[in-house]
Amino acid sequence: MKDNVSIIGSAHTNVNHDSAVKHVTGQADYTDDIALPQGALHAYLGVSDVAHAKLLGIDFSDVLAMPGVVGVLTADDVPGANDISPTHLNDEPVFPTDAIQFHGQPLFAVIAETRDIARRAAERAKIEYETLPHALDPITAQKAGYPHVTAPLKLERGDVAPAQAAAPNRIKGRMSVGGQDHMYLEGHIAFAIPGEDDDVVVHCSTQHPSEAQHMVAHVLGVPSNAVVVNVRRMGGGFGGKESQMNLFCAVAAMAAKKWNRAVKIRPDRDQDMTATGKRHDFVIDYDVAFDDEGRIQAVEGSFAARCGFSADLSGPVTDRALFHADNAYFYPNVRLNSRPMKTNTVSNTAFRGFGGPQGVIAAERMIEEIAYATGQDPLDVRKANFYGTTDRNVTPYHQEVEDCILDRLVGELEETSEYRQRRQDIIAFNKTSPVLKKGIALTPVKFGISFTATWYNQAGALVHVYNDGSIHLNHGGTEMGQGLNTKVAQVVAEAFQVDFNRIKITKTTTEKVPNTSATAASSGTDLNGMAALNAVEQIKERLVKFASETWNVSPEEVVFHANQVHIGQDVLAFDAFIKQAYLARVQLSAAGFYKTPKIHWDRAKGQGRPFYYFAYGASCSEVAIDTLTGEYRVDRTDLLHDVGRSLNPMLDKGQVEGAFIQGMGWLTTEELWWDDAGRLRTHAPSTYKIPLASDRPRIFNVNLTDWSENRELTIKRSKAVGEPPFMLGISVFEALSMAVASVTDYRECPRLDAPATPERVLMAVARLQAGS
Ligand code: MTE
Ligand code: HPA
Ligand code: MOS
Repeated sequence: MKDNVSIIGSAHTNVNHDSAVKHVTGQADYTDDIALPQGALHAYLGVSDVAHAKLLGIDFSDVLAMPGVVGVLTADDVPGANDISPTHLNDEPVFPTDAIQFHGQPLFAVIAETRDIARRAAERAKIEYETLPHALDPITAQKAGYPHVTAPLKLERGDVAPAQAAAPNRIKGRMSVGGQDHMYLEGHIAFAIPGEDDDVVVHCSTQHPSEAQHMVAHVLGVPSNAVVVNVRRMGGGFGGKESQMNLFCAVAAMAAKKWNRAVKIRPDRDQDMTATGKRHDFVIDYDVAFDDEGRIQAVEGSFAARCGFSADLSGPVTDRALFHADNAYFYPNVRLNSRPMKTNTVSNTAFRGFGGPQGVIAAERMIEEIAYATGQDPLDVRKANFYGTTDRNVTPYHQEVEDCILDRLVGELEETSEYRQRRQDIIAFNKTSPVLKKGIALTPVKFGISFTATWYNQAGALVHVYNDGSIHLNHGGTEMGQGLNTKVAQVVAEAFQVDFNRIKITKTTTEKVPNTSATAASSGTDLNGMAALNAVEQIKERLVKFASETWNVSPEEVVFHANQVHIGQDVLAFDAFIKQAYLARVQLSAAGFYKTPKIHWDRAKGQGRPFYYFAYGASCSEVAIDTLTGEYRVDRTDLLHDVGRSLNPMLDKGQVEGAFIQGMGWLTTEELWWDDAGRLRTHAPSTYKIPLASDRPRIFNVNLTDWSENRELTIKRSKAVGEPPFMLGISVFEALSMAVASVTDYRECPRLDAPATPERVLMAVARLQAGS
């Protein structure tokens, strides 16, 4: 692997991920690698074995009798507020006092000399409870009269009823879309070190250090300035560590203060999967009216989500599902409702796409319905309904789409993937192949960039130039493998015109940049890149002033270039120049700040401009299914994705590839399954199947649109990449659907539910064959 030493001014180049070598050689430090101080203790969670009950009491005598156990931590030990709800709805206790709300809910923690002792002892508690009836899924919950966990959203535009009445065609249907476990390589972990007075330092694996800090302070009943949260890197987050680390941080910090010893908590994979939230599964009811050419006239949709026992981020997640229920298509008349249902399951949370994928797949299902009903190639129906840029370009939330590049992007992919020819070949193949059937689909993605909670769209950075010319970079974003630190360092290196390796990337800490947002909504680089650039510009401004005054030249004659500073006729090495600036008492440190312009959102009205811009992509997949077993394979996938002017094409391609595979996993093999008692039975890699290397497309062509640039003034005209390509996985799902449809000569929309496991594919084949 090449090193990055001599890459100067490195924006728009393939700089390696700063930790790439450390990742593959095992030298990258994660929270669990931090050496424990003397006397460190370990915590483990004790959990419920019932889905819904009145909690009467817990008998800890057998727990406390176990040698090595130091004590237990219960709701009674919470010094401050017993609440870790990220939206401050006060619906999520650290430990419950009177109600058990899901199977596997953490009820207490055991603190012991070793993790093994804590884990074994936690099993020995006798939990007394009175069982109550439970509802596990959103439909059962609706029937049982369960409440919404948070206020639902309604988006409306146009006049739906008359449009439905006037349209020549109308189809109603229901689609179930499964959830997803994050399956990050590194699970949840927090490690707290008590300090003097109120102080505590927590090292953990969170996407949201400021929230963990504020939450620990809230639970301890101390001000936020007593708590420091540090994150060097995560071994994957994918949204699962946006809010879910709050519990672990609170438990470790409470125990650390109670016993005045360092305390680490690290659940095993089963507990990580059962006790922390996942992607929301949805039941979507749609009603689409369209003309004989397949142009959509009106859409009505209801999006019921399994939110779990508390709100967590379910409000913004179900909002984002509605924001993406149009995907790339203009709905002249539309009404969409979210139903964020409370259920007796773990509280679901952020996961790459943040509800967006569940909205997009509903749009794609409606397209499929129209295509089968009108006998068209689904791609033609898609194209007929794409947003325009000057007309037919208003979204259900009344934002105008100004930057739609799908005509060109999809057109290019259609050519390079040879979609039309291959579709003809596949239809011919299916006519003569009795058992193996093939399918192909080309699906687009449009994804809105910005947090829909407008105030989240801010970031800070702290840049120091030391007097030897080395540079220290800190910002509020967190590194979870996506390459954020690399991209922000590229921006800084380019602005100073110095080698990439002169920039020291440092851990994220609440001590350096306060009140940060989660590294989420794909906006890590957009926000933190701009904040870091702002800090560099402040320092450069002082340096230019110093140079022009001292050398007596105009500011325009001070130019940073290739590790040097040109001042009139003089040329100084960057280090030598910095040393002079230091001796002249120039401030060589700055805090930068950025907030996204143009955005606003009125949730009560359902109107505004929640997104700064949109990212686009398209994907073409070909699959083959075995109609006797339901098994399938992806033969070829071609991806074309828009990242504006890429800051780092290599990292961006990595994001596109990984996101596609993760999206494919969500829609194919990854199935969450609860038994009737509410126990999650797919709680380990043995029963929960993520894509393997052998599941990847046999031919896999991944490309970025090299002609695209962001029309908005984002960092170097790039676009966010973290989440949008997740939805490229939908082409696999739609291709499977076509292969299934072939058994009745494409007369009927197969209405596959997700995930399309081999069982579901087989059942869909049987269902179509039985009907014909
Ligand atoms: N890539 C890796 N390798 N690991 C991750 O955990 N998370 C995804 C995406 N890509 C993730 C990832 C999610 S959910 C988001 S929101 C973005 O990265 C967050 O980082 P960014 O805003 O810097 O793109
Ligand atoms: N995306 C991701 N995370 C979030 C969002 C969002 O829109 N809003 C709050 N947390
Ligand atoms: Mo990503 S789901 O916004 O962390």
